[in-house]
Amino acid sequence: MLGTLRFRLTALFLAAVLVFGLVSIALAVRFFRDVTHSQSVRELELEAAGLADLYAESALRSSDEGAKAPEFAAENLEKATGDELFYVGASLFPGQRFGLERLPRSALGDVALERDRLVTFEFTPPGDAVRLLAVAHPVRLVRGTEPFGWLIVAKPVAELRQEWVTLAERLALALAAGIALAAVLFWWLSRRLTEPVLALTRATQDVAAGRYDVEIPPGRGSDEISLLAERFRGMVEQLSEAERLKRSFLMSVSHELRTPLTAIRGHVEALREGVVSDPEQVRGSLDVIAAETDRLERLVGDVLDLAKLQAHRFTVRHEEVDMARLLDHAYGAFAEEARRREIDYQLAADGAQPVIVSDGDRVLQVISNLLSNAFRWTPDGGRIELQLGAGNGSVRVDVVDSGPGIAPAERERIFHPFISQDLNGTGLGLPIARELALALGGSIELESEQGRGSRFRLVLPVVRA
Ligand SMILES: Nc1ncnc2c1ncn2[C@@H]1O[C@H](COP(=O)(O)OP(=O)(O)OP(=O)(O)O)[C@@H](O)[C@H]1O
Ligand SMILES: [Mg+2]
Repeated sequence: MLGTLRFRLTALFLAAVLVFGLVSIALAVRFFRDVTHSQSVRELELEAAGLADLYAESALRSSDEGAKAPEFAAENLEKATGDELFYVGASLFPGQRFGLERLPRSALGDVALERDRLVTFEFTPPGDAVRLLAVAHPVRLVRGTEPFGWLIVAKPVAELRQEWVTLAERLALALAAGIALAAVLFWWLSRRLTEPVLALTRATQDVAAGRYDVEIPPGRGSDEISLLAERFRGMVEQLSEAERLKRSFLMSVSHELRTPLTAIRGHVEALREGVVSDPEQVRGSLDVIAAETDRLERLVGDVLDLAKLQAHRFTVRHEEVDMARLLDHAYGAFAEEARRREIDYQLAADGAQPVIVSDGDRVLQVISNLLSNAFRWTPDGGRIELQLGAGNGSVRVDVVDSGPGIAPAERERIFHPFISQDLNGTGLGLPIARELALALGGSIELESEQGRGSRFRLVLPVVRA
């Protein structure tokens, strides 16, 4: 459960949400703190300015009336604001002592009070444990004269902190609720995501056990998992087809092997039991046995070749191959048969002298194969042409015959193993030729017209030394 993709996805998602949420809260609180701080300072400044004016005004008025101005003012001011007020300063009139020193200058520590400007600072009043945010405003009776004191308006810092702590608490609560909701939602959503993966896992187990009729969930849309399911389905189809081909190949091989074996056994038994005793008949039987043994040998060799080619366990050499010379060689091998059967047999090299890097023996094997088919199917007195051409980065060897041609439906089938019309053939010639061509980086193409003949073309890439 903890190791499942579903759990890990959900955990990852929630971790991302948590980090995002915490960073947002930190930023929001920070911003809020800055705003409330400057707002508080602004309020304190306004308050200080107003109070300082009021104070100066009433001091001036009461000095005219002979009352103890600052004390009167102080009482009034405290009443007026409800805030705690502090005064720091000198006597209003030299020699007179008023209640101005309610806060000794030393209580402010090394805060520098300015004559013409408001000053904002934090301090803790003596005998008090509460830290305050304060604004000091110079107080003067007449504009432009020396200030006789500073009026300080303050507010507990804790009050400010309380505001953002409350905000942070609420945001944290909202985040927790959001995460809980996201967890439920994502857990549900992730099931949609991981369900096809689990289904695919079950399907792979089935395929591994050799059951190819597995049900693969259809993909939703074109996401990666749908793509994976699609590819997996394709792979299963190919595996199943390969399995079917393997089975039919094995059946064909055993069938092909049995036919000559049956003939051999029949003749051997006849000879052993003395059924045939006439020397002529004995020689006939031995000839059949020899021919069938040859056939068996060729069959086994071909099957092995094809198996190696199909398993890509086939080494090809890389050597310089002079195609014109190679074609001369291939042509010569059938010249005698052509003469005997009065076949118009031509070699057309077209002046082309391509030299490529390939495996000469294998190229010759493919061409001989195609030629042997052409000679097998072309009637006496017919026509066979071997052509060489080059261009566009490839060389082409065409074997053209005037045989019966190949029906469209057969044109692909004849390249499959054991498809043969020839009683003495194995049906492995063309499949091997095609696999060889592929192994050499080329291909075999076929054009044919029924009743007129066929053109088998070997195309090879020109790779220079
Ligand atoms: N030039 C051709 N003209 C007409 N039919 C052809 C030609 N070449 C091949 N075929 C058909 O394709 C079949 C398969 O050819 P392939 O070479 O694979 O096997 P094969 O010649 O019958 O046997 P093998 O080559 O193993 O002795 C042939 O049996 C024949 O029916
Ligand atoms: Mg053949």
